[in-house]
Amino acid sequence: SEGMTVAEIAKKLHREPAELIKKLFMIGVVATQNQSLSKDAIELLAAEYGIESEEKVEVDISDLDVYFNQEVDESKLVERPAVVTIMGHVDHGKTTLLDTLRNTKVSEGEAGGITQHIGAYQIEKDGKKITFLDTPGHAAFTTMRARGANVTDIAIIVVAADDGVMPQTVEAINHAKAADVPIIVAVNKVDKPSANPDRVMQELTEYGLIPEAWGGDTIFVNISAKFGQNLEELLEMILLVAEVQELKADPDRLALGSVVEARLDKSKGPIATVLIQEGTLRVGDPVVVGTTHGRIRVMVNEKGRRLKTAGPSTPVEITGLNTAPLAGDQLVAFEDEKTARSVGEAREKQAMAEQRTATHRVTLDNLFSSL
Ligand code: GTP
Ligand code: MG
Repeated sequence: SEGMTVAEIAKKLHREPAELIKKLFMIGVVATQNQSLSKDAIELLAAEYGIESEEKVEVDISDLDVYFNQEVDESKLVERPAVVTIMGHVDHGKTTLLDTLRNTKVSEGEAGGITQHIGAYQIEKDGKKITFLDTPGHAAFTTMRARGANVTDIAIIVVAADDGVMPQTVEAINHAKAADVPIIVAVNKVDKPSANPDRVMQELTEYGLIPEAWGGDTIFVNISAKFGQNLEELLEMILLVAEVQELKADPDRLALGSVVEARLDKSKGPIATVLIQEGTLRVGDPVVVGTTHGRIRVMVNEKGRRLKTAGPSTPVEITGLNTAPLAGDQLVAFEDEKTARSVGEAREKQAMAEQRTATHRVTLDNLFSSL
C-alpha cells in the first residue's frame, strides 16, 4: 500500500479527500490530494478510522525461530518427562552410570530386546518416565545453549568420591548454573576403599553447592554406578526435582525438537536422534531440521522399535531427511510438505550463501597474510 495517494485512499475508504486531508492535518501530516503517503501516515490514518492495517507482518520464512517460538496455549499443557544430562570430570563414571541405568531399567520387560546405542534414551521409575541425554554432557550443553535451546531440565554432576572435585567438575557446575538448570550431585565410586564422600561435599561448598544436611538446598546422593548402589534413590531424587519444576508441554501441536546427534548411514541415508520438546511428531510429517528438510520416513526408539508418534520429551531416531543435520539444530514440523520444502530450501540457500561469503573472506585473509 506504500505510495498510495490521498485520493486513492479516500476512494477505498468511501470518504472525501478533503476529510482525509483534515484528519491528516490533525495528526500532524500535511498532505495534498495527489501526494503519496508514507506507510506510517497510512497506518495513522487507518487507526483514525478504526481500520486494522492490511499490512501483513513480514515473515522471513528462512528464520526457524519464528516457527520454533510460536505461542504456547497454556490450557493445552500436560505433564512431560524430565530431560536429564549427566556431566562431570573424565573417568568419574558418567558412562558407567548411564549404562547401568539403561541396562537395569531400559531392558526391563524387554525380553530379548537389543538395546541400540542412540544419543538419548528413556527409562521408567514408579510409572514416570525420565529422559537421559547420553551425549558428552558438556557438548550437549554448549552446542544447544549456543542455539538458544535449553533442552535439559536437570543436570547430574558426577563426582568420583576417591578423586574429588576436578577442573571439569567445576566446568560442569558452571554450565548448569549458566543454563539455570537445577543440579543433583551424584557422589560416585563410594564402593572404593579410598572413597571420601564427605570431602566431596566439603569441596563443593566452595561452589555454592551445599547439601541439605548442612543447611543448603543441593541434593547429594552417594552412589556406585558400577555396582548399581543407590541408583533407585538417585532416580527418586530426579523425580522429586522434576515434580517441583512442573514440566509441561502441549502434545497436540506440530512437533518442535532439537537434534541430539546425527550421522550419515550408508544404507539408510541421514539419521538424526531428535528430542521432541513440544507437540507430537508423526511418521509422514514434513519437517525442517536446521538447514535441511524432508519427511519423516521411519521413527524408532532406543530399543530399535518403530514408532508412529512421539510426544514431548521423547527421544527418537528419524530418517527421511535430505542431508544430515548438526547436533543442536532445531526441528520444526509443518502441516504441509510445500511449506516445509520452501522453508527448508530458503534455509539451505541462506546457509550456502553464508558459506560462500565465509570462504571468500578466508581467501581475502589469506591474500593479505601472504603479502
Ligand atoms: P569419560 O567418558 O572419559 O569422561 O569417563 P566417564 O566419566 O564416562 O567414566 P567411565 O564411566 O568410563 O568410568 C571410568 C572408570 O571408572 C571405569 O573403569 C569404570 O569401571 C570405573 N567406575 C565407574 N563407576 C564406578 C564405581 O561406582 N565404582 C568403581 N569402583 N569404579 C567405577
Ligand atoms: Mg564416558
